[in-house]
Amino acid sequence: MDNNTLLHVTGLKTYFFSFAGTRIVKAVDDVSFDIRRGDRLAVIGESGCGKSTVAASLLRVLPPSAKTVGGEILFEGEDLLKKSNREMNDIRGRRIAMILQDPMMSLDPVFTIGRQLGETLERHTPLRGESLLRRIKELLTAVNIQEPERRINQWPHEMSGGMRQRIVGSIALSCEPKLLICDEATTNLDVTLQLQYLNLLKELQEKTGVTLAFITHNLGIVAELCTTVIVMYAGKIVERAPVMDVFDSPAHPYTKALLDAAFGLQDTRKRRPIPGEPPNLANLPPGCSFHPRCIHADDRCRKEEPPEADMGPGRSAKCWHPGKE
Ligand SMILES: Nc1ncnc2c1ncn2[C@@H]1O[C@H](COP(=O)(O)OP(=O)(O)OP(=O)(O)O)[C@@H](O)[C@H]1O
Ligand SMILES: [Mg+2]
Repeated sequence: MDNNTLLHVTGLKTYFFSFAGTRIVKAVDDVSFDIRRGDRLAVIGESGCGKSTVAASLLRVLPPSAKTVGGEILFEGEDLLKKSNREMNDIRGRRIAMILQDPMMSLDPVFTIGRQLGETLERHTPLRGESLLRRIKELLTAVNIQEPERRINQWPHEMSGGMRQRIVGSIALSCEPKLLICDEATTNLDVTLQLQYLNLLKELQEKTGVTLAFITHNLGIVAELCTTVIVMYAGKIVERAPVMDVFDSPAHPYTKALLDAAFGLQDTRKRRPIPGEPPNLANLPPGCSFHPRCIHADDRCRKEEPPEADMGPGRSAKCWHPGKE
């Protein structure tokens, strides 16, 4: 692992276990990837493919029914799976921050904006009193909140959705994390607002050097903003590539299907939804999990899990027929 690699994940497995232990959902199954410093990584894939579970595994904030049962997560060379809970508490927020793209959920309605920013700063930095106040104003200004003196004493409900979102961003960036993960679970956010916000994060990246990972359903945002793409399907990474390669020549039939489905958002005549449904993660089909929906599937695809095919610098696809037209 060279010094440019911020995060190095190998063989990550996180499963959900039913109460009786009889049903196992392999939400993340043998996932390996790197994030390089200064990257803007996009993680894409249909709902339920395991994107948020990857993020929750990295931060070790899984729900009680889930457990990481294998793999290694090296963050700046340290294995996060070997850290104590106390050490993880220190890493969360201070070195790795996560934004859930639901600003109403992430801000506490009963505390003022100033208090919420102040609390995070007090927890992770020695700033107090005047210098704390100065830093809070600085952070609000950095995310384009006008009149920070006045805003400090306001409540979340007194702000617009876009402002709340930017304040959540300022809280996440307040301790200058190395990695910021933005998990957008819903698609019903205002797309223009979303793009403005993400552009702001990109600007802040230029100033602070924070590495960004976006979990998103919005391929427009991916094309506009990201440098590298990971495509997930049924708990596995099926393609990884520099962003332009993914849009120019998707190597995995699933990636191609995702793009075809998304371009319909602009031109409904071209819209081609992916046929069929994502598989049940507790009962995956044999061979390649995508084979029941794949136009190129043959006998081998139905029987044998495909290996990861090397598709050139920084590119790979987990497919028996990568790049097939
Ligand atoms: N609390 C839970 N209990 C049991 N299974 C769960 C739970 N949460 C998630 N799962 C399983 O894990 C899989 C992956 O879920 P995850 O939330 O990581 O998907 P996602 O890719 O983030 O989806 P979305 O785009 O909708 O946010 C789901 O398909 C589901 O089967
Ligand atoms: Mg999710």
